Amino acid sequence: MRSSDAHISQGPEGQWLLSGGGLSCGLHVAGDGLLSLIYLGPRVEDIADLPPLRPAPHRSLSIARGGRDDRHLNYRPQLYPGTGRGDFRLPALAVTYDGGTSTDLRVTDITVSETKPALAGLPSARGDKSASLTITMEDRVAGLRVDLVLTVYSGISALTRSATITSMGDTAIEITRAASSVLDLPPGDWRMLTLGGSWAREFTEHQNLVSPGRMTVSSNRGLSGAAHNPVLALMEDGAGEGHGHVIGSALLYSGNFEISVERSEFDDIRLWMGINPEGFAWSLAPGETFACPEVVHVVSDTGLAGMTAEFHRFVRRHIVPQHWAAKPRPTYINSWEACYWDVDLAKIGALATAGTELGVDMLVVDDGWFRGRTDDKRALGDWDADPVRFPGGLAALGDTVRAKGLALGIWVEPEAVSPDSDLARAHPDWILREVGRTPSLGRNQLLLDLSQLAVVDHLFNALDTILRDSGAVYLKWDCNRYMTEYGAPEVPHRYMLGLYTLLARLRAAHPELLLECCASGGARFDLGMLAYADQGWLSDMSDPIGRLDIQSGAFRFYPPSTAAGYIGPSPGHQTNRDTPMLTRLAVASLCAARGISLSLDELRREAETLKDAVQHWRGTATLPVTGTYARCLHTADETLWQLTADDRRTVLLVYCVRTALPNAPYRRVRLKGLLDGARYRSDRDGALYSATRLMTVGFDLPMRDAMTPKGGGDLMPYGDKVAAIIQLSANSAAGGPDTSSS
Ligand code: GLA
Repeated sequence: MRSSDAHISQGPEGQWLLSGGGLSCGLHVAGDGLLSLIYLGPRVEDIADLPPLRPAPHRSLSIARGGRDDRHLNYRPQLYPGTGRGDFRLPALAVTYDGGTSTDLRVTDITVSETKPALAGLPSARGDKSASLTITMEDRVAGLRVDLVLTVYSGISALTRSATITSMGDTAIEITRAASSVLDLPPGDWRMLTLGGSWAREFTEHQNLVSPGRMTVSSNRGLSGAAHNPVLALMEDGAGEGHGHVIGSALLYSGNFEISVERSEFDDIRLWMGINPEGFAWSLAPGETFACPEVVHVVSDTGLAGMTAEFHRFVRRHIVPQHWAAKPRPTYINSWEACYWDVDLAKIGALATAGTELGVDMLVVDDGWFRGRTDDKRALGDWDADPVRFPGGLAALGDTVRAKGLALGIWVEPEAVSPDSDLARAHPDWILREVGRTPSLGRNQLLLDLSQLAVVDHLFNALDTILRDSGAVYLKWDCNRYMTEYGAPEVPHRYMLGLYTLLARLRAAHPELLLECCASGGARFDLGMLAYADQGWLSDMSDPIGRLDIQSGAFRFYPPSTAAGYIGPSPGHQTNRDTPMLTRLAVASLCAARGISLSLDELRREAETLKDAVQHWRGTATLPVTGTYARCLHTADETLWQLTADDRRTVLLVYCVRTALPNAPYRRVRLKGLLDGARYRSDRDGALYSATRLMTVGFDLPMRDAMTPKGGGDLMPYGDKVAAIIQLSANSAAGGPDTSSS
């Protein structure tokens, strides 16, 4: 066994040690079946190194469970805590059964397996090279069984968890809170990092001290949402960018979620993750089961940077579909900000001609192509090509684009329906709404009820037909409305199960399809969607300055291989801000899927620059896909991102500055993860640097000062919103002395 292999062992006194990559998780099962979490952190090899179970002595006002003096649950660090038995923190479960509401689960069985047990109907991480522990817990009074599955992975410091609840009694059990994961962590001044914002400013980072009480990020919008992303990092006291202990967590779920952090009266930290209990209830008939979405926890002892690296590796290896995972993505022109809804065959043909001249691989026809869709007030649901604007239908559209040598991509919003559509008129019963209420509208539209099998079948056939008729190789799957008036409290989750079924069927029928998820930008960008989609549209913000925080935030957890970005218009349609072409190109270069969305006039005007841009993307296409990302600098004014190729011989640096600063200071930044002993040549000035110089001493960023005389250093354009793209290349011929001054 190598020291990063997945491995599970049992100790002599009820301990269990699960290790994978650089992570270990220690559990303790007491004689009466009480399950405790005794450790989660960097890997330990010897089970004897696990800490003992903390004593839980009597304290004033404490409750002794079942009258036993050594069972004060409020002080026990647990893994799936009950309620109503003296633990007053957030419980894993809230249920009502015939006779009570308290829960007290005890371990009845534990099995180890090298095959990861499946999680019915929900996305879950692929279990290659993993080891799983299934812990069965029962509460005979409540008539409940819970199967917890914990999985560790070889070579990756990640632990995934799921919980499946089974009713074992004679009467139905109502569940109103069901955790996917609860972790009780040691007391301390932990900080929490979350991502959120709103439309066109998703993924903004927030860091807060975990204070006494509960802090929650959540969604009750039916989609995981733009306001809070279903991820969270807990940073132990003193942890920072590159140092200290961090636990990063993410839900593999795309609907209503809750992530809460509770700091108890004794400063213990409890992390709670799962479906949002607000508005949720699920009735479990005798013998039925309910599966909670999976969660991944990642451990780092090199701060947030280490957490990011583990997340990126985990998502690439265990989450995203494998067909596109390591392949460069096609460069594309997207019709959206070029034409909005005003598309027809002639315009698409002209965009395709421009695309051929620029050298892109694909033309994406965004919204507006289907029957009657001339604005956002109509036609969603009627998924055939508009006969007037696209005579000859989808087949002719596909042929027109392919005749120019480009592949076709197409936009859909399958879950939505316009009240003014043939679909809404034919199937009012397929729409989410409540009797007696005028339906609320979001972007003039409603949602279909994906909890109905007939709806899922219909949508599968519609999507399959679009793909077959058009020959499209890429699908942008949008969803531009949050969920309201859904009727029964189990519907939002049943909707998710329907959505995942639909996505799984589509993937199975079209395994080579390049699928991009989108929800008004990043309003449903999560590991649940990424288990089916190869990439996602991070945000409708296409102004590159507006995108700096968005990309820096998203890349904390999600790798650039899952991101799409394009060169949009200037002034930006979301900000009315002018930005140089180089800055737009630079920021989009961090994403695996790189495109252009400009009007025909702009495409023609900027043709030469755009040709160079596409060439540059071709030359660096694998960097965001299989390379390593590092955030070297991200302040209110400056950003430096580093992408390093798999073999560490090519490095792409993207440096952006928001505001011009006279007499700007020199900036020297240490690069990360280069090849020891190698020498790197910069494509800007031909200077040669040793890896040591770049990583230990640092790399001098180009000067951005108008007053610096020419020849006084490596200059970049002076002004607001400027960027530099620097490529460093190492090869065997690149020997010789360091020619850069330090
Ligand atoms: C959403 C998407 C955009 C675009 C439009 C089309 O806003 O985020 O990229 O596809 O819908 O209506």
